[in-house]
Amino acid sequence: MKIGVIGLGYVGLPVALAFSRKFEGTIGFDIHEGRIAELRDGIDHTDESTPEELAESPLSYTCAIEDLKDCNFYVIAVPTPVDSNNDPDLTPVRAATRSVAQVLSKGDIVVFESTVYPGVTEDICGPLLEELTGMTCGTDFKLGYSPERINPGDREHTLERIVKVVSGQDSETLDAVAEVYGAIITAGVHRAPSIKVAEAAKVIENTQRDLNIALMNELSIIFDIMNIPTRDVLEAAGTKWNFLKFFPGLVGGHCIGVDPYYLTNAAERLGYHPQVILAGRRINDNMGKLVAQKAIKMLINRDVPIKGARVAVLGITFKENVPDIRNSRVPDIINELKEYGCTPLAHDPYACSKEVQDEYGITLSKKEELTELDAIILAVSHQAYLDEDSEFDFTKMSSSKGLIVDVKACLNRSAIPEHIEYWAL
Ligand SMILES: NC(=O)c1ccc[n+]([C@@H]2O[C@H](COP(=O)([O-])OP(=O)(O)OC[C@H]3O[C@@H](n4cnc5c(N)ncnc54)[C@H](O)[C@@H]3O)[C@@H](O)[C@H]2O)c1
Repeated sequence: MKIGVIGLGYVGLPVALAFSRKFEGTIGFDIHEGRIAELRDGIDHTDESTPEELAESPLSYTCAIEDLKDCNFYVIAVPTPVDSNNDPDLTPVRAATRSVAQVLSKGDIVVFESTVYPGVTEDICGPLLEELTGMTCGTDFKLGYSPERINPGDREHTLERIVKVVSGQDSETLDAVAEVYGAIITAGVHRAPSIKVAEAAKVIENTQRDLNIALMNELSIIFDIMNIPTRDVLEAAGTKWNFLKFFPGLVGGHCIGVDPYYLTNAAERLGYHPQVILAGRRINDNMGKLVAQKAIKMLINRDVPIKGARVAVLGITFKENVPDIRNSRVPDIINELKEYGCTPLAHDPYACSKEVQDEYGITLSKKEELTELDAIILAVSHQAYLDEDSEFDFTKMSSSKGLIVDVKACLNRSAIPEHIEYWAL
């Protein structure tokens, strides 16, 4: 097999690096010239691969699809976002499919890794390849689908260590796809009986997480009204053997908050209108506003003037310890605070300031500016904020009437001085 990986982001790069260690001549393609340039320089801004890994890898990088013409196994790992109406945007998947069509030969296999709704691989991408190449899907070339389960920032559940679901449009293709992935996945592969099963499996993994978090968020709203700390309730309930360990929080990023819409959109087009899944989405999408409103209420109760109140919002990435700001829900907190007239001071030790400015119009503050704070909202529990010898001393940063909103409930309550009010989601 000669493998070509299309799309070298959080998913595609680790996959391409792993293949390059087992399959000679593996080549990675991306349309983003800057990405190819940084990888050639041995840098991965996503932090998923180390400079040593990049330096040791025989993987080659290109922006020219013709360089992939000798490949016979294509892996497509391009983004699958939603548009402003939360409808699936298959533009990158179609574009990548068009690129592969330019170099596809008889006998080749095309495997999609992008998260999609059931049917995209066989009903959209296969026909597109047929139309552009004049070849017949299933005889001249074959399709496969293998969803990705990596978890950015997680050094334990890495590509090789997670069982990988594989599928193919017929048993021969399934064997080939299983063999290729089996060569890199030490945890083993799971052979799904069809491509649609594999597509559906991926999309429900994230839908299930989204809904479980939505339930926790709803519970935290109820318990807040009842004046009961949600975390204490969850800790008590969690002692039962079958109580699932989920926690309230902001659901951002380009997977959990997006993938459920792929499923609900496909269902709606078939005449079924999902209720539970979309209710979960609505709850989770509203949590940023709710956190800001809670901080405002607490400030009012502490007689702090809202207009001009200095509120630090710590962390802007979509999750802890990663630089990825896409679909972060933290800007919801910042925007809501601004609407009330507060002065939010956003800070993040990992996010790129320029990206934050371009994407959200938010200027990140320097650590030195975070003084005399009327409130601190710890939105993302980056390690840099939590380390014992952290340079962020919340007590020193707070004004005399300080207050801390701990979105992920990760601070030690007993270590916070009494004059600072504390609230966790
Ligand atoms: N990031 C995750 O944690 C994760 C986990 C599981 C599944 N997924 C899914 O994997 C897919 C890829 O996600 P990602 O996080 O790697 O995205 P990403 O944005 O990090 O990377 C995508 C890469 O594809 C490139 N690209 C875009 N259009 C292209 C095209 N037409 N041809 C070639 N390259 C193109 C981009 O320049 C970028 O480098 C998505 O469907 C996502 O839902 C992501």
